[in-house]
Amino acid sequence: MCGIVGYVGHRDAGPVLLDGLRRLEYRGYDSAGVAILEGENLTIRREVGQVSNLAASMPERTTSHLGIAHTRWATHGGVTRANAHPHADTEHRVAVAHNGILDNHQVIRRNLEAEGVVFRSDTDTEVLPHLIRKFYQGDPVEALRRALSEVRGTYGVAVVFADHPDLILAARNGSPLVVGLGEGENFIASDSHALVRYTRRVIYLEDGELAVVKSDDVATLRLSGGRAAPHTVEELEPVYGVEGKGEFAHYMLKEIHEQPESIARCLRGRVLPEEGNARLGGFEMSPRDLLALSRVQLLGCGTSFHAGLVGALSIEGLARVPSSAEIASEFRSRNPVIASDGLYLAISQSGETADTLGAVKEVQVKGGRVMGVVNVVGSSIARSCGAGVYIHSGPEVAVASTKAFTSQVTALFIFTLMLARTRTLSPHDASRLARALMEAPEHVRAYLASPGPIQEAVRLLVAARYALFMGRGVSWPVAMEGALKLKEIAYIPCEAYPAGEMKHGPIAMLEKGTPVIAIVPQDEHHERTLSNIQEVKARGASIIGIFTRGDEEAERLSDVALPVPVVDPLLTPLVTVLPLQLLAYQAALALGRDIDRPRNLAKSVTVE
Ligand code: M6R
Repeated sequence: MCGIVGYVGHRDAGPVLLDGLRRLEYRGYDSAGVAILEGENLTIRREVGQVSNLAASMPERTTSHLGIAHTRWATHGGVTRANAHPHADTEHRVAVAHNGILDNHQVIRRNLEAEGVVFRSDTDTEVLPHLIRKFYQGDPVEALRRALSEVRGTYGVAVVFADHPDLILAARNGSPLVVGLGEGENFIASDSHALVRYTRRVIYLEDGELAVVKSDDVATLRLSGGRAAPHTVEELEPVYGVEGKGEFAHYMLKEIHEQPESIARCLRGRVLPEEGNARLGGFEMSPRDLLALSRVQLLGCGTSFHAGLVGALSIEGLARVPSSAEIASEFRSRNPVIASDGLYLAISQSGETADTLGAVKEVQVKGGRVMGVVNVVGSSIARSCGAGVYIHSGPEVAVASTKAFTSQVTALFIFTLMLARTRTLSPHDASRLARALMEAPEHVRAYLASPGPIQEAVRLLVAARYALFMGRGVSWPVAMEGALKLKEIAYIPCEAYPAGEMKHGPIAMLEKGTPVIAIVPQDEHHERTLSNIQEVKARGASIIGIFTRGDEEAERLSDVALPVPVVDPLLTPLVTVLPLQLLAYQAALALGRDIDRPRNLAKSVTVE
């Protein structure tokens, strides 16, 4: 969703800000803008559409060394230039870029209008520059503190003042902000991805904090007054693999093909076949703690929820600990009972999903133990949890999550192995599973090198009015993940059902030629899913079968056969999801969709 970048230092601010905005494009946005200080005046440029439109409206070089920039994903007010950020006060002495939502903006707006302020946008944000200007009497920090004390809601804000040529103020309440530390220059951003070209040293602002950022100094204060607790300077993760799209037409395809490496990175140093065990350092749980767990609940949204479902099934199935997964937005709003001897896992690629963060807080406020399964290092969920596991997928830029899913699932399998070792698994069986996990990257590589007749399946899908995905056990969340991908980037109406549910309703949807994508690997559900395939086939459905290589019966029943490598039955999601990712990608390509930035979606959903 919205993104913020700020720069103060010796470089030309314009190109630095545009570069930062380009790196935030993947988050999803509909307009972009910059405010830079030129001489004694703030120049604001804003454009609807892509950052390239904004860049085209700017000179290649500017004479500015200070500025803020923003990508907006509309919430309050339509997609117009006037509503794009940054917003300024009437005399253009203060400019503000804001992520989040100000709940009481209407009351403030009415009050300011009564005082004679004329608003130029429909946004909630515009109240901020007017308020700051109203309270400004030479002390920018005091003006910002007073303005923010008037607003309710969430914000990450960046503010520049025409009277202060070496100063950016940044403040946070519920929307992430990171300060990047350079030599004679400093940066702010809502996402460290914007900064990687310039610095790897960062500090993360906490809620209720304000940063005073100058070219040669950064100070952090409490919004309520006084200095903030000292911050540790953190190092950003190294950039894995090739930056940009490399040889691939889209980030999504590149990220699909990165999965052998991203899964291997997630496994590295954590799975110990010789010992027949696994180690997740960040979990900070001894075998005794693991043994004492009464239940494990996994929380996430979208793809991360699907990974959670796979995790819950494997934890309960193998470690025999009651386990379930729940959509974070539902969990946080239903006043859940929290088990004090349970473990809650918050799963999130971005680590910024507002609902998942809300679920973390719900567990914490009731005294529960919650840990993160997160990709982005230093993200809000990772820091709120304080403990957990990084999946180390590397940056995932395409809105459609692919490599994060397989790494989340891998991390949850590692956890399952650890937990099962304290209860049900013999050293021998644990070694066997550990070895099978270590072999997974090679199986993924082998499949991607030779994915089978994807185009034949795509022809069925793009001609269809409706498609249905089905599977049992861990293949049910995989089916859900396949359907989510197809909806999200190809916009093809489809849904996913446990195969056992077909006769309870969805089978009525089938007509001659309806594509049914059946996920039927060799596991304990195999026979029953084959029967379900027979049933839907008898109703005229065209079967796109995803099954374990060598399964002649599944192959015979499939109109399009997409065999996947032979893996341990527990680990099948790591290979059965691959053809589904490719199907969605190729169908979207055939339909001319905007694959990396599908309509209406954002990479990181930072509002409820
Ligand atoms: O960053 P998160 O993993 O918390 O994001 C959760 C969902 O928004 C995300 O998985 C979404 O469903 C993807 N776009 C699906 O491809």
